[in-house]
Amino acid sequence: MKGQQLRKTIKRYIQMNINKIHNMKKSTCIFLLATIFSANNLVAQQKRATAASDKKMNAFVTNLMSKMTLDEKIGQLNLPAVGFDVTGPILSEGVDEKIEKGLVGGVFNTFTPQAVRKLQELAITKSRLKIPLLFGYDVIHGHKTIMPIPLGLSASWDLSLIEKSARIAAREASADGLNWTFSPMVDIARDPRWGRIAESSGEDPYLGSLIGAAMVRGYQTNDLANKDAILACVKHFALYGAAEAGRDYNTTDMSLIKMYNEYLPPYKAAIDAGAETVMASFNDINGTPATANKWLLTDLLRNQWGFKGFVVSDYTGINELTAHGLGDLKTVSAKSLEAGTDMDMVGEGFLTTLKQSLQEKKITQAVIDLACRRILESKYKLGLFANPYKYIDEERAKTEILSQKNRSDAKMIAEASMVLLKNNNQLLPLKKNAKIALIGPLADNKRDMIGNWSAAGDWKLAISVLEGLKNAAPDMDITYAKGANLVDDPAILKQINANGAEIVADEKSPEKLISDAVSAAKKADIAVVVLGESAIMGGEATSRTNLDLLPNQKELLKALAATGKPIVLVLMNSRPLTLEWEDANIPSILETWFSGTEAGNAIADVLVGNYNPAGKLTATFPRNVGQIPLYYNHKSTGRPYDGVSNEKFKSRYIDSSNDPLYPFGYGLSYTSFEISPVKLNRNTMTSAQTIQATVEVKNTGGYDGEEVVQFYIQDIYGSVTRPVKELKGFQKVFLKKGESKSVTFTINNSMLKFYNSDLKFASEPGDFNVFIGANSRDTKSSGFSLTK
Ligand code: BGC
Repeated sequence: MKGQQLRKTIKRYIQMNINKIHNMKKSTCIFLLATIFSANNLVAQQKRATAASDKKMNAFVTNLMSKMTLDEKIGQLNLPAVGFDVTGPILSEGVDEKIEKGLVGGVFNTFTPQAVRKLQELAITKSRLKIPLLFGYDVIHGHKTIMPIPLGLSASWDLSLIEKSARIAAREASADGLNWTFSPMVDIARDPRWGRIAESSGEDPYLGSLIGAAMVRGYQTNDLANKDAILACVKHFALYGAAEAGRDYNTTDMSLIKMYNEYLPPYKAAIDAGAETVMASFNDINGTPATANKWLLTDLLRNQWGFKGFVVSDYTGINELTAHGLGDLKTVSAKSLEAGTDMDMVGEGFLTTLKQSLQEKKITQAVIDLACRRILESKYKLGLFANPYKYIDEERAKTEILSQKNRSDAKMIAEASMVLLKNNNQLLPLKKNAKIALIGPLADNKRDMIGNWSAAGDWKLAISVLEGLKNAAPDMDITYAKGANLVDDPAILKQINANGAEIVADEKSPEKLISDAVSAAKKADIAVVVLGESAIMGGEATSRTNLDLLPNQKELLKALAATGKPIVLVLMNSRPLTLEWEDANIPSILETWFSGTEAGNAIADVLVGNYNPAGKLTATFPRNVGQIPLYYNHKSTGRPYDGVSNEKFKSRYIDSSNDPLYPFGYGLSYTSFEISPVKLNRNTMTSAQTIQATVEVKNTGGYDGEEVVQFYIQDIYGSVTRPVKELKGFQKVFLKKGESKSVTFTINNSMLKFYNSDLKFASEPGDFNVFIGANSRDTKSSGFSLTK
């Protein structure tokens, strides 16, 4: 274990055992002290080693830069898109020639050892200074073995599994020539109208921070020089998820307190975990778009947070500052560089205008040098100067990509992402001898299984639900009927087919599709109906104003419900949907997101009970679009509504409940759990002390299973208003049927801190509520005070 880690472990141990220390044996105390001493020694040694290697890197980069012309330095700041994928509105041209002239720092959307070798060879053999290129790509939830969309992944509440998913992605990407992923996206997302909620970990800053850090560790490992480590890119800095009205690329205007407490923590956590690069977001922040926002990219990111890597713009993000109204290309390019954007993705504003801005003294040589140095340093850390072909290895590509092991891990990860929303009368798991009507446009579908932003994933390799059920239960009696087209709505069809959805209306009329499905259901014991969005309805530029199931699918579901047959609704979607009718009328609902290459096998295992679902929502499911934004960690208001009374002057709607349909943290299991009242080992603490909050968790149902025990705190009175509750910890525990375990959370001063109106991060003495439960709504509570 490295020194820092060892120190952290000891600190955690001491915090957890503080009460026991006075009873501790002398020998244990001596052992602990010796371990602390050796950890301190290790840290000192590591610091010396880092300083020495930094010195070496600085000398190397300084020497290289002394040979570079101004054009070559500006060239390092240029990131064109070329290759196999199109992820933005325009494509780069003349890339090969630019590489030869030393006018390119990296490219993205090119992968495979052969294609990467071709471009890297141009840089190494044709360009004057032989500076290797970076190769970036949006490896978001897997490279070729695709795992669940990030919103689904986060629903696993399993950090080691999430880290593993990033590790698998990095191993495959690095074997395919890539050395940089544009992930993790850690934008807090509280608005399901925004299609990019699919790429997020949902609404909570604490969980989002842990996930962001786990992903960075998974991509970068503990040393970028490792052959399967790739650069992570924390995006989209910042506040992209708070776009007004959930419309992509829209403006964000937010108080600093809200930013610091609710939106910035995940970016900071990912940077603290060592993320080497950051992507500036497209949006305006309080009047200055992120790409040109010096406060954000320099004062906060570098000066306050100590970020040492480089910042890349988003796709033509610099050019778009003209449409934002900040000036012509020359002006906005200079502004962006000055603000702290080091690399220009696709737009070539830097390449075409910085030289002139320098001549006109609008910018200094020093800012160009600084940006260039940061990019060269990242290349150095990856070991590209030592071996520019480090990531080009046909053999690794053959053996490590889409391996059987990766696929079986992907299946396990997919299973962990699924959330059981409803299960009346224990309709699930399916009895193996039941006669099943498998219905719906997503039931025998491969195209959509891997989700929208699925990198180099090949949907043809994905497993459909029908195939999965046949694999999991070969003897099951299954009749399939499509029931409806995936999308009938002409406006949506036009949008998504232009972007690769490839949806063709079935030869049968919509009426015939429904009547065939209804007769299949009538002949069966149970109907499993697989509905939802097309994968292309989620991700970038897919904002929606209506989150109901599409009308044609809903019509099918209503017709099936009218048969009186028991129905299991299996959902696939990129975002929380509004499902009030479904919740009221369908006995069993399983949320499966778009769960990747192994989707069908994973879903089938859940349906037949080979795997007992344990996922929990990380984004609230509203009842209707009018409630949005709706999130669990909201403020109280001065007139909070109790949900029952009929008083007029309360913060409420007259036509809808305030409550979500399914709250944050919610998800059922095939078994049931009972959580006891919360026991605190004391009721007051000073800032130097801790309190242990304990519950007994019992598996009271008929299956072994896992429960995510969630721990929330409310700061009742503060110098500024505080949320009604905030997640501060969780533990995923496995319990055999009938088994009980006690679960303890340690309350310490640092978890009571928040940014006050002076943006000081401090706790305030006073009273607090503690809530522990199976989701953010159904909790047991207790209280304590912080005395000083
Ligand atoms: C997206 C980024 C992505 C980039 C490169 C942009 O349109 O906003 O998330 O990394 O394209 O593909």
